[in-house]
Amino acid sequence: MALSAPATPFTYVTHFLAIAGLVLVLVWTLHFRGGFAWDAENKNLIFNLHPFLMLVGFIVIGGEAIISYKSLPFRKDVNKLIHLVLHAIAIILGIVGIYTAFKYHNESGIANLYSLHSWLGIGIIVLYFIQWLYGFVVFFYPGGSGSLRGGSLPWHVVFGITVFALAVGNASLGLLEKLTFLESSGLAKYGSEAFLVNFTAIVTILFGVFVILSVLSEGPAQGDHSYSAI
Ligand code: HEM
Ligand code: HEM
Repeated sequence: MALSAPATPFTYVTHFLAIAGLVLVLVWTLHFRGGFAWDAENKNLIFNLHPFLMLVGFIVIGGEAIISYKSLPFRKDVNKLIHLVLHAIAIILGIVGIYTAFKYHNESGIANLYSLHSWLGIGIIVLYFIQWLYGFVVFFYPGGSGSLRGGSLPWHVVFGITVFALAVGNASLGLLEKLTFLESSGLAKYGSEAFLVNFTAIVTILFGVFVILSVLSEGPAQGDHSYSAI
């Protein structure tokens, strides 16, 4: 089930959008929102870690992990190791990123888990972890039988793309929510910061689109576009 188009150009666009997203979120958090802190009087600096870690740690590294089979020139087993390690890094940074949102809420006396964004967020990180664990056990160690691997792989791909797409959607929801909070406390609706936040969401969504296009198109030179669970 591959598009008859080579994945490589899509993977280049994906990398470019990853860098653009990184730059935009850093300009927002560092230049407009005062930077990062783990412990501070100004609790907003603790919050700022949340969008940064979720976008760069969870979504960008998670997306790069997904396209590793298409973007890297190595053998299948090397790409597989990189795929699983990058996903592990994404999950760890995602957990730390969610922790910073809770830390900010707790230290500022704000309630936890009241929003759609936060409910979806918990669901997504749990599903992502289940996907990782299943992938690890079936495709890496101890590894399932040939028929289990073969039967699982299409599910792994569909489930993986679905959870990733949900994460991209939820990041947009988070950006919208934060911008709405800021606008209701006076931030200019047509100001440069509002545009910056909206463009960050657009770049994040485009990044998601190009990750999925990369997955659905034909792999590099090995000529292997059919999914093989080896
Ligand atoms: C897929 C990525 C993301 C996930 C899984 C996620 C998850 C979460 C979770 C679980 C909370 C609840 C914390 C608590 O109740 O104490 C939260 C809070 C928050 N997040 Fe995110 N987040 C993501 C990305 C973002 C981004 C990119 C922004 C942009 C600013 C953002 C903005 C917020 C805001 C404003 C809150 C506090 C209000 C609320 O609880 O809804 N999030 N996030
Ligand atoms: C949350 C973590 C994970 C997600 C979201 C995920 C997602 C994906 C996606 C979307 C693909 C399709 C890639 C493509 O065909 O270009 C894929 C392929 C694959 N993944 Fe994962 N994966 C995860 C973790 C793992 C783990 C831990 C393993 C264990 C080694 C693994 C093994 C594989 C294998 C063997 C393929 C087949 C590649 C091919 O033959 O084309 N995945 N994964």
